[in-house]
Amino acid sequence: MTEAQITHDSKWVSEFLASRRSTRDFLATPVPQELIDQILTDALTAPSWSNTRPFKVAVATGEVKDRISVEFLARWEALAKIRQPGLKSKLRLIFSRYGLPTSNRRIIKKYAAELRPRALRVGKELYDHIGVERGDVTARNAQWANNYKFFGAPVEMFIFIHKSLHVFAASDAGLMMQNLMLSAHARGLGTCAQGAVNIWDDVIRQEFNISKDYRLLCGLALGYPSDAVVNTFGAHRIGVDELVIKPTRASK
Ligand SMILES: Cc1cc2nc3c(=O)[nH]c(=O)nc-3n(C[C@H](O)[C@H](O)[C@H](O)COP(=O)(O)O)c2cc1C
Repeated sequence: MTEAQITHDSKWVSEFLASRRSTRDFLATPVPQELIDQILTDALTAPSWSNTRPFKVAVATGEVKDRISVEFLARWEALAKIRQPGLKSKLRLIFSRYGLPTSNRRIIKKYAAELRPRALRVGKELYDHIGVERGDVTARNAQWANNYKFFGAPVEMFIFIHKSLHVFAASDAGLMMQNLMLSAHARGLGTCAQGAVNIWDDVIRQEFNISKDYRLLCGLALGYPSDAVVNTFGAHRIGVDELVIKPTRASK
């Protein structure tokens, strides 16, 4: 490559990376199977720990996806009641256990103090962007419930990681997912990673034969973005100064 090409391409790459945003409203337009296969092939070009590829992807479309969504929405409705005032609905949830997480209970815990302001900020800015008032619990719950409709995406992927590799499996899955998301973006498709869906893995296991050696990491919605205002949201980025750990001793 010539120096001019490198300069041109590297600028293009930076702009392309920065132009990817999470999509939270999709058109119903189906994604052709060949396109899904190509995106998954691109996903597998990511690096991996000892090349083990310690992950599996369950791809849900059509009736399978719809059945999962219906059950998720029913469980979310039950779970959301715990936030409402009054003891009756809370007790009903505790006794019936319907809606309580069957996997990843972490999701209902608070963020660590260092990370909490960032999570609060993106939540506030996203809701401001779509005109949902902070105190409007019904509207906030409805927006969160969109996660369980997969934001209308025609394809929902569920990412499972091999338990034996601990954090390294999640790291590999993250690299693979980023390739997948960028490949989709390059083809005019949108994606949204979804931690929201990793709390009821039993629902997914009813639809797919998944080994107990694998645990659910997250979901990933895939499809063509609509022109809804939610899709124009740009999440804040921390600066490089916040990213980099400085050495304790200055170099000579
Ligand atoms: C593992 C993971 C899980 C996520 N879970 C959700 C989710 O459940 N719902 C949602 O709306 N966005 C979710 N997101 C999207 C993040 O909120 C988003 O990536 C972040 O705010 C940065 O915005 P951007 O993707 O538009 O750059 C998730 C992202 C990642 C990487």
